[in-house]
Amino acid sequence: MIMLKTPVEIEKVAAAARIVADVLESLREHVRPGVTTSDLDRLAEEAILREGGKPAFKGYHGYPATLCTSVNEQVVHCIPRRETVLKEGDIVGLDLGVYRNGYYGDAAVTLAVGRISAEAQRLLDVTERALYEGIQAAVPGKRVSDISAAVQSFAEARGFSVVTDFVGHGIGRELHEDPQVPNFGTPGQGPRLKPGMVLAIEPMINAGKGETKVLGDRWTVVTADGSLSAHFEHTVAVTDQGPRILSEGRGKRQA
Ligand code: MF3
Ligand code: CO
Repeated sequence: MIMLKTPVEIEKVAAAARIVADVLESLREHVRPGVTTSDLDRLAEEAILREGGKPAFKGYHGYPATLCTSVNEQVVHCIPRRETVLKEGDIVGLDLGVYRNGYYGDAAVTLAVGRISAEAQRLLDVTERALYEGIQAAVPGKRVSDISAAVQSFAEARGFSVVTDFVGHGIGRELHEDPQVPNFGTPGQGPRLKPGMVLAIEPMINAGKGETKVLGDRWTVVTADGSLSAHFEHTVAVTDQGPRILSEGRGKRQA
């Protein structure tokens, strides 16, 4: 069942999502060669607590950390570790959820560590732009799969593959609510988008094929072919005025 949010509830999701955005923004300067993913996790947790939120992923189905930190061919859900030292040329996905005052926010970015290859940069650019293509389709009257199809067609037209094993989701009082928001599909299918829906739209795009596998730690998702993968995510409210991104950083947010 899709839980529509009142304007007051949307502001509460926005408050949680703003913490997500601020914390992700604050991590950018720390992403450089030599930093460990566990350092980033600790910085994220401290920053969330300072802003009055709680890490949403920690303890979720037993997940042990605040951030998911997915490096290179890692797609999503990778646990931060002391042994994982970022090096020049890596790309690292930072996925973060925050709980505050009864509501959740969720967002992800994939960042370059130092200088990266032109192909890696293109993957980051296309994945972020695919997210915005999806967001633009999040308007009342369209359907969920219009978001999906926008993401898929944008990525595939540029030679990349969408991950089909994991999907975006509704968000609000729960981290994961209905509807599922796949990054693939034909337009015009699925639930109709209505004002008050809040969606976590999150393309996961691979440079090679779209297949993934889960490693022995039962969390880490990697590309089956070892190719690079990128992930961007925003928490977005569907409104009569169009999509409203609730997890955008201060730099991009108005006023
Ligand atoms: N953004 C991801 C999601 O929506 C992160 C979940 S990680 C978990 O599924 F640890 F919480 F499972
Ligand atoms: Co999510």
